[in-house]
Amino acid sequence: MTSPQREQTRSVGDAQCRVENPGGARRVVVTQDLPGRRWLEELAAADCRVEVCVEYRPLDAATIRELIGTRCDGVIGQLTEPWGEQLLRTLRDAGGAAYSNFAVGYDNVDVPAATALGIPVGNTPGVLTETTAEMAVALTFAAARRVVEGSRYMAEGHFAGWLPTLFLGRRLYGGTLGIVGAGRIGSAYARMLVEGHKMDLVYFGPHANQELEDFVTDYAAFLEAHGERPVACRRAASLEELLAAADVVSIHAVLNDATFHLIDAARLAQMKDDAVLINASRGPLVDEVALVEHCRAHPEFGAGLDVFEHEPATAPGLLELPNVVAVPHLGSATIWTREGMATLAASNVAAILRGWPVWPDPDVAPFLTGDAPHAAPSIVNARQLGLPVFGADASAR
Ligand code: GLV
Repeated sequence: MTSPQREQTRSVGDAQCRVENPGGARRVVVTQDLPGRRWLEELAAADCRVEVCVEYRPLDAATIRELIGTRCDGVIGQLTEPWGEQLLRTLRDAGGAAYSNFAVGYDNVDVPAATALGIPVGNTPGVLTETTAEMAVALTFAAARRVVEGSRYMAEGHFAGWLPTLFLGRRLYGGTLGIVGAGRIGSAYARMLVEGHKMDLVYFGPHANQELEDFVTDYAAFLEAHGERPVACRRAASLEELLAAADVVSIHAVLNDATFHLIDAARLAQMKDDAVLINASRGPLVDEVALVEHCRAHPEFGAGLDVFEHEPATAPGLLELPNVVAVPHLGSATIWTREGMATLAASNVAAILRGWPVWPDPDVAPFLTGDAPHAAPSIVNARQLGLPVFGADASAR
């Protein structure tokens, strides 16, 4: 694989860019610096000059427009950016033929507009499933076992010795776990807590997840064979049923008009008073003002949040609440995952610019090491755009 020449910096308006592979014939803009080098190698191999914005802050649309300029073949953008019709049109007018989000979620992208403009939109699934699930698990334990409160207490020098009633939390082992949305991340999170902590599972979502149900059934048989209490799994008929039953409720739904404020004041009131609510999906799924009120009124309730309704802002009072644990949208923040996301985003853009087909398999591991397939790993509007599929018979396209 070509090793990109690394050089040069360039100012665009008030933004600084590092220019990689300056001799590349195609021009790709990357709106935030990304970890690792493999992603740059992918773009260099596709003969791309890569302009990487090195501002350490989310960019607004005006700055992104300036970065795109009058000629730009493709962009790797961020979930913090408003990729609506206007910005996509700016890209298309500059000759842009590919966009990839550096994220699995793409609620910040107007995909129908991109499709209408003929722009393929990539995302980065498959490398952040377990990583994001691990963060949801970390928040679950932090909230249930009051880890941050305890840590703050230590740091402030209050610890004067063990006490029988100091920071009593809730035991998760053998309790009931509720997941809202049993897709990749929700299922991985559920398996971590069902397997590790023998929690019973209740899930709610538009689709049955037979694989997950079968897994829990088989695991229950295994536990029983070893003289342990078997775990149980069921799909709830309604969200209300799940909320009433669960000791922990973790949200893994996609954000759209139907799921906005899925958890509001009325739904919070349907949960157990000492339940734990986890959100590592998208902030607007929860009415954050209602959550502040609920946590205030129910000190036994706990919340673990990785995402916020109006990121980076948070609802007044949220961060002062002792029963809220909050981290700054770190779900996918491990080195392995972020390097993998960078590789997938770059491979999406590079493959489309090279006229390669789209990878048909949810397993994207072949893109992460060695010689990658000549394909775009994940294009969300591939079908709508009629893009060719890797390995498919031309007559079957
Ligand atoms: C992170 O939130 C992502 O969607 O990748």
